[in-house]
Amino acid sequence: METSYFHADDAFVAASPRRCFALVRAIRRYAEWWRRVRCEPLGTEAVLEVGSRFRFSGGPVSWVIEVKDLRPHRRIDLEYAEGDMLGPVAWEFLPEGEGTRVRYVYRGVRPNSEYTRASFESGRSLRLHTEVMQSDAFLGLRRVLESGLDASGGDLFTTLLTQRAVRRFRPDPVPEAVLREILSAATRAPSARNAQPWVFVAVREPETRARIASLYGGLWDRAKQYTEASGADADIAERPGYGAMMQSVDHLARHLAEVPVLVIAGLDVRALGPLADPEGRIRSDAAAYASIYPAVQNLMLAARGLGLGTTLTTLALGAEDELRAIVGLPAHVHVPALIPLGYPKRPFQPSRRRPLAEVAFGERWGASLEDS
Ligand SMILES: Cc1cc2nc3c(=O)[nH]c(=O)nc-3n(C[C@H](O)[C@H](O)[C@H](O)COP(=O)(O)O)c2cc1C
Repeated sequence: METSYFHADDAFVAASPRRCFALVRAIRRYAEWWRRVRCEPLGTEAVLEVGSRFRFSGGPVSWVIEVKDLRPHRRIDLEYAEGDMLGPVAWEFLPEGEGTRVRYVYRGVRPNSEYTRASFESGRSLRLHTEVMQSDAFLGLRRVLESGLDASGGDLFTTLLTQRAVRRFRPDPVPEAVLREILSAATRAPSARNAQPWVFVAVREPETRARIASLYGGLWDRAKQYTEASGADADIAERPGYGAMMQSVDHLARHLAEVPVLVIAGLDVRALGPLADPEGRIRSDAAAYASIYPAVQNLMLAARGLGLGTTLTTLALGAEDELRAIVGLPAHVHVPALIPLGYPKRPFQPSRRRPLAEVAFGERWGASLEDS
């Protein structure tokens, strides 16, 4: 008879059982809080349902997990269904004071490969292995739920209403799995003729970031001098928030090299078909650029949904050839946006915009929506 593993790890999380349960259920957000391991959904659903499956991999092991039962805000029963381990496990969310005692319980798990058999035989190495994984999860849950970065709770509208230009970043690296989720969300965007003419280059290497930052800094200095000398911002300079915005733009320009990821969004003109001529000149700017900016917006919303900040910048377009050369993009790829990406220094705030009544009409220009 093979040994089964019964064990529970737990941690206190200063958030309600409802929020803990919601985050553990949000399979598309797993990359946000598991740092050492990878959880890859095997279905298309955004949240775990009974029957949902996902692959869990960490180091030399991987297994497929299936959801068996969901008892809202209290418990999620899972089964290791295929792979290096088999058997039942559960998440438990027990109210405790102002927060939740989150437990991960092995309820009789068996090894199913040579590697895990050896690890089970030495109970100590198994315990160490599971503790490392669980502490990664608990730390991640606390990081997300206690930092104020989870204002969204995964809700689309809260994500949308708090998606702002973030220009001050923490130095924490962006886990590759998080980057993949974000870029993958970008590629779900609409495009003319479904041409999907986008390419993305995620720059994490410090030297390359420094080269891009130096290019960007030079362009910013020139743009700033020009704006000041010509009064080009006269139309917006009196608006509340203008000074703060300019300070923050300046801050980003001076610290761009420190942003963990610089994403270059490219528009591959060769993928545009008849929207460009054989020499690669774009025939319809509207259709071409409207086939890349929705993907950029998707990227920024997905980042926000996962607790990361971004800013859409177009300044680097002023030195497109140099930028292309730095990352080796061919001439037929235009560079419509450079998007700094990372964990924000400050909690997300709602964006402020012109009142809807000023910009949305019913039936005719100027007529209010209500009257129509
Ligand atoms: C086409 C475009 C170009 C932009 N270029 C820059 C830029 O070069 N540098 C920058 O810091 N922000 C840039 N932004 C960000 C805007 O300043 C920002 O979206 C706007 O001020 C609203 O900010 P909020 O969402 O924080 O309210 C750009 C935005 C767009 C849509």
